[in-house]
Amino acid sequence: MLNGKRILIGVSGGIAAYKVAWLVRLLVKAGAQVRVVMTHAAHEFVTPLTLATLSKNPVVTDFQAGKQGTWNNHVELGLWADLLVLAPATANTLAKLAHGHCDNLLMAVVLSARCPVCVAPAMDVDMYHHASTQDNLRILDQRGVKIIPPGEGELASGLSGEGRLAEPEHILAFIEATLAGKQRLSGKRILVTAGPTFEAIDPVRFIGNHSSGKMGVAIAEKLASEGAEVCFIAGPIAIPTNHPNIKRFDVVSAQDMFDCATQEFLTCDAAILAAAVADYRPKNVAAEKIKKQAHDVPQIELEQTPDILATLGQTKKQTQVLVGFALETTNEIEHAKRKLEKKNLDFIVLNSLRDSGAGFKGDTNKITILHRAGKTINFELKSKNEVAADIVEQLCTYL
Ligand code: CTP
Repeated sequence: MLNGKRILIGVSGGIAAYKVAWLVRLLVKAGAQVRVVMTHAAHEFVTPLTLATLSKNPVVTDFQAGKQGTWNNHVELGLWADLLVLAPATANTLAKLAHGHCDNLLMAVVLSARCPVCVAPAMDVDMYHHASTQDNLRILDQRGVKIIPPGEGELASGLSGEGRLAEPEHILAFIEATLAGKQRLSGKRILVTAGPTFEAIDPVRFIGNHSSGKMGVAIAEKLASEGAEVCFIAGPIAIPTNHPNIKRFDVVSAQDMFDCATQEFLTCDAAILAAAVADYRPKNVAAEKIKKQAHDVPQIELEQTPDILATLGQTKKQTQVLVGFALETTNEIEHAKRKLEKKNLDFIVLNSLRDSGAGFKGDTNKITILHRAGKTINFELKSKNEVAADIVEQLCTYL
């Protein structure tokens, strides 16, 4: 059940940090995607290199500037995770967590996380039983943080008692049980289209567009991490998708995408069409490469491609939810509303190319969501992963 799940491990500075190497190994073996955030103190007990090698991902400790000059990897990490596990959670980290301190990257990640948070306390027996530690654990418990109880036995100090970090196998079982209770979209099948389409002119040339597919991939991965079975139909894009819940169909033209989407939609509960489908294609595709003429300029006659979204809108059952995108440059709201009605959508995600940071190629997007019932929500400029989380959140209100 951990296959493809995104587990973020937060390591703070206690001797039990050495056990986290084994926990990371167990998670990776179980198919989870693992990332690790360490405090500086944790570096004294286990090296970032060890955890990076075992997790197959870079380990982070400090804030990093993002590509757009932003300073946001705590938000990114917090949103990326399906589950955040602090192991070991020292007395100091528990205290900071209980009182909302935010003096290092790990604390900022916890405050940014929307996923369930588990803490595995580890400290000496008297520190564990101290009234302040117990109060902090109670506060965290009341807030919904899941406490992975420490074990009992010999401690690093030579004393014996409660306070040993739970064994990695126990933490693994705890993670599995927590995730089993948190799959909002499990049992749902959702179709996502992404990327451009290429419309052949001759065997070597085509009409295409600049869509990177990043937005569609982010949506597919977010849906998959919420337990949905995703039917992902991608035009020619360079981005891989790794989640085991994603069944991927790679297509080239609008017609290929149409054939695949209309077939797959029959068994889906919802569809989010994020692809930038060509509206026109050459009427006749030349069988051989078109040669340069000495005097004539070749004329390419175009015809319309089928509108996938409009077709799904015509055929959709009452129980199916349909979401479209609108990329506009003028009269954005008006055009988006018209598309919403004409294509029979439940809601539409509007991008305006007039907003800087929105659109095809970058890692950010700025959207407005217009619901059929009339509600309009404006979102800030965000990373595409955050935008995907917002779109999935809106979809969940229908499902
Ligand atoms: N779409 C589609 N099939 C097409 C064209 C568009 O499924 N042949 C979908 C897109 O995936 C998107 C929505 O329709 O979800 C809106 O696409 P857009 O190109 O903005 O709208 P059009 O209807 O093509 O209108 P126009 O190009 O005139 O703005």
